[in-house]
Amino acid sequence: MKSSVGLEALSVYVPRHFLELKTLAQANGVDPAKYLFGLGGRRIAIPTPAEDAVSMAVEAAARLIENYDVQKSNISLVIVGTESGVDAAKPIAAYVHGHLGLSNHCRAFDTTHACYGGTAALRMALAWATANPRLDQKALVICTDIARYDMLSPGEPTQGAGAVAMLIGHEPELFTLDPYPESVYTREVMDFWRPQYRQSALVHGHLSIDCYLSALESTYRAHLAQSGLRWEDFDYLLFHVPFPKMAYKGFCKLYEIEQSQRSPARALPPLESEFQKRTQPALVVHAEVGNSYTGSLYLSLASLMESGDSDVAGLRLGLFSYGSGSCAEYFSGQIGADAAAWRGKIGISRALSERVEIDHPTYRDLRRASEVALRGAPEDVAEHRSTHNLKHIAFYGIRDDQRVYGPVSEAARLTSGERTNEKTSGRA
Ligand code: HMG
Repeated sequence: MKSSVGLEALSVYVPRHFLELKTLAQANGVDPAKYLFGLGGRRIAIPTPAEDAVSMAVEAAARLIENYDVQKSNISLVIVGTESGVDAAKPIAAYVHGHLGLSNHCRAFDTTHACYGGTAALRMALAWATANPRLDQKALVICTDIARYDMLSPGEPTQGAGAVAMLIGHEPELFTLDPYPESVYTREVMDFWRPQYRQSALVHGHLSIDCYLSALESTYRAHLAQSGLRWEDFDYLLFHVPFPKMAYKGFCKLYEIEQSQRSPARALPPLESEFQKRTQPALVVHAEVGNSYTGSLYLSLASLMESGDSDVAGLRLGLFSYGSGSCAEYFSGQIGADAAAWRGKIGISRALSERVEIDHPTYRDLRRASEVALRGAPEDVAEHRSTHNLKHIAFYGIRDDQRVYGPVSEAARLTSGERTNEKTSGRA
C-alpha cells in the first residue's frame, strides 16, 4: 500500500481556433517583433461562445475519465480552480458534477485567487486525500479559464484559454509533490483584476511583472531553505506563464539568486544554456495557446509529460504558481517512473495538431458572439455553436436567466469551415 498522494492522471482541453500574433500585430499597427520576441508568443487560443469555462472544464474532465478508465463512483471531491466564474453563487464545479453524472455523495466547489486558484484547488485536494482513510476515493481538480483583455490593450496579445483536469489519489503514478513545508506568499496588490461587471481583465501590467518577480524570489528562497534542495536537483523549472517571456524573466531571477550564492569555482553554466535545458521545453505549448490563467502551470506539466523529446521518468521539477492580487507558492515534485505510459493520453499534442487558424475579422466576430451569448437567447449564437472541438457539452446561451448547455451533435462538430473564415493550414 502506498502512503503518498499525488496526481494519478492528467488531461487537457484547448480551443480549436488560434490567431497568429503576427496577424494581431498587423491589425493593431504594432511591430510584430514586439509580440513575437518582446513577449515570446506565437499564437493565442481563441474560444468560440460554445467554449466557456464550464464546457471546457467538462471536456477536460470527461476526457480524463474516458482515457484513464476512471470509475466515476470513486470520485468524491470536485474542485474547480478558476477566475472565469459564470455565476456569483453557483460554482463551475456544480455544473461539472452534474454533466459528468457523478455520485451525490461528492463535495463540489470552486477556488478563486486569480491564476493561483488552480494550485489552491490542488493543495485542498491533496490535503483531503491525505486525510481520507478510503484509499479508493479520488478527487478531481480542474483548472479552467478564458484570458480576455480589451482589444488594442497591452494585454491583448497575452490572451488565451484552456482547461486542465487532474485526478488526485493514493496511486500517484504520474506526479508526486515533495512533502516539504509549503513556501507560500500573500500580499494584497492591485496588479490585475476583473470586476464582476466586466468580461475582460484590467491590469497594471508593469506592476504585475514586479509583483510576480518579488513573489517568486520570496517563495523560491523559502523553498530552498526549507527543503535543502539545490539548483542542480531540479531537472526542470516550471513557471506560471502569462506570456513566455515572463517565464524567461522568472528564470533569470532564479539564476541571479543562485549565481550570487556561488564561488567562481562553482559558477553555473551560462544562463542561456541553462534556460534552454531547464525551462524552454515546457514553454512551447504557451507560445501556442497564450495565457490559460489557472491552468498555465499545469499545461507546462502536461506538455513536458507528453513531449516525445526526452524521457522524463523520475525527474524532479521546481514549480512556481502565481496569482495576481496576489498569492504565490513555490513547490517541487517528481514525475512517476512510468512516464512513457502517459504519452498520447494527456491530449496536448493532439489538441495542438487539430487546431485551425482564424483571421482577424473572425477573431473580432467570435469576441462579439461571446458577448451576445451572455445576453441573448441560445438561438442567437447558433451560428457559432459548431466551431470547436467539444465532444460532450457546449454552451448555447442564456434563457430565463439560466445558462443553457446542450449536447454536441457529431454532424455539427468540425464542419465549421463553411461557417467561419478559417484558414486551412492549422497544424501547430
Ligand atoms: P507593454 O507595456 O505594451 O509592453 O505590455 P512593453 O513596452 O513592456 O514591451 C514588452 C517587451 O517587448 C519588452 O521587453 C520590450 O522591450 C519588447 P522586456 O524589456 O520586458 O524584455 N519590445 C520589443 N521587442 C522587439 N521588437 C520591438 C519591441 N517593442 C517592445 N519592436 C505587458 C507588456 C506584459 C505589460 C502587457 O502585455 C500586459 O499587461 N499583460 C497582461 C499582464 C501580465 O501578463 N502580467 C504578467 C505578470 S502577472 C501574472 O502573471 C498574473 C496573470 O496571469 C493574471 C492572474 O494571476 O490571473 C496575468
